[in-house]
Parts: sequence; C-alpha cells; structure tokens
Amino acid sequence: MTPLFLTFEGPEGAGKSTQLRRLAVRLEAAGVAHTVTREPGGTGLGTRVREVLLDPALDMDPLPEFLLYSASRAQLVREVLRPALSRGEVVLCDRYADSSLAYQGAGRGLESGLLRAVTAEVTGGLTPDLTVLLDLDPALGLHRAAQRGQPDRLEQADLAFHERVRRGFLDLARHEPERFLVLDAARGEAELSEAIWQAVGERLAQGRQPTAS
Ligand SMILES: Nc1ncnc2c1ncn2[C@@H]1O[C@H](COP(=O)(O)OP(=O)(O)O)[C@@H](O)[C@H]1O
Ligand SMILES: [Mg+2]
Repeated sequence: MTPLFLTFEGPEGAGKSTQLRRLAVRLEAAGVAHTVTREPGGTGLGTRVREVLLDPALDMDPLPEFLLYSASRAQLVREVLRPALSRGEVVLCDRYADSSLAYQGAGRGLESGLLRAVTAEVTGGLTPDLTVLLDLDPALGLHRAAQRGQPDRLEQADLAFHERVRRGFLDLARHEPERFLVLDAARGEAELSEAIWQAVGERLAQGRQPTAS
C-alpha cells in the first residue's frame, strides 16, 4: 500500500467537500484504504476549536486566529494524519496549512515568515503529496456557499478579503507547481472529479516522495 497525503484547498463554496466526497467514493470502489478528515476539526480538540473559529459572534485578531488553526492542525497531525499515513493509507484532508498562508497571510496580512515557522513546528514538516486547488471567483463561491444556510464568520468577511485569499492560493501554487493541481472550479463537478482522479492515480503509481515524509 502506498501512503499518500492529499489536501483540498480553495475559497468557500469552491467545491472542496464535494470533490473530496467524490474521490473517497472512487477510492472505496477501487479498494484503496483511505482516511477522510478536515481542518479545522478532525479530532475532539479540533472540533471544539472549529466551533470557536466559525462563530459569527466572536471578534478575533489575526494572530490568535492563526494560533487556533495551528492548535487544531497540531492535534490533527499527531492524532489522525501521521497514524493513517503510517498505516499506508491515502489521506484526504479538507483544507490544511496552505489555508493559513492564504487566509491569515494574504487575507489578514500576517507575515508569512512567522506563519511558515509556526506551521513547520506544528506539522513537523508534514507536507501534502498533492494539493488540489479549486480556484474560483470569490463572489461565485460565496453565492454557492450561501445556499448552505447562515454564513459563518469567514463567509461574512468582505469580498476584498476573499480576493486577497484567492491571490494568496494562486501565489502558493505558482511557487510549488509540482505539488499543486490548480483547477477551474467553475467547471462541472463530474469533469473536475475526473481530473482529480487522474492526478491521484499518477501519484499513487509514484508513491510518496522521501522529502514529503
Ligand atoms: N463544480 C460545481 N459546479 C457548481 N456547483 C458546485 C460545484 N461543486 C460544488 N458545487 C455546489 O457548491 C456548493 C458548495 O460546495 P462545497 O463542496 O460545500 O464547497 P466547499 O467545501 O469548497 O466550501 C454546494 O451546494 C455544491 O453542491
Ligand atoms: Mg466544505
């Protein structure tokens, strides 16, 4: 079995959870052992932290916000991600460290050196083998997300913030083209799912690169 760490990134409403579910169904059908998780969340601690982070009633400064995401991430790496990868599974994670660089870095303006240093410590250097970036006009994404019901704290932030986040994600992808698969999330669900399945198949054939462990 080939362990593989896959993350899904992109703005609200881009279709991350939709594509993650579709990929999980395909892996299941192919008999590939896998674990599905998300950030923030995925553990008892992470789920409690998630409630705090998404609460529209809370004011939060950028630094404590980042540290809360990091707390959830630290627990997830230790409790879920590393154990699943050690078992040789494919791990699908709905958001991961790139979201902090895009939202708290590009979006909120925290310095990327600080974010990267804390993230390296929190993750012990665990980096995805493949990151699917679902790129979408934030106005369209927020419109899609709004269909889910009451907007959470981040969905309520202004459009300029979400534009900065989008550019932040695209910058990250430009700097690590071999890790990122950037897809136009305005395409149809089935078509996107096919493109993701193809990329995952290639990575499964290659296996985890030693630098990513
Ligand atoms: N490719 C797509 N085209 C149109 N609508 C989509 C597409 N993918 C997802 N959606 C819809 O957009 C909404 C948000 O999708 P979701 O997967 O929850 O996004 P995310 O997890 O990125 O916030 C859902 O109502 C979903 O059905
Ligand atoms: Mg989602």
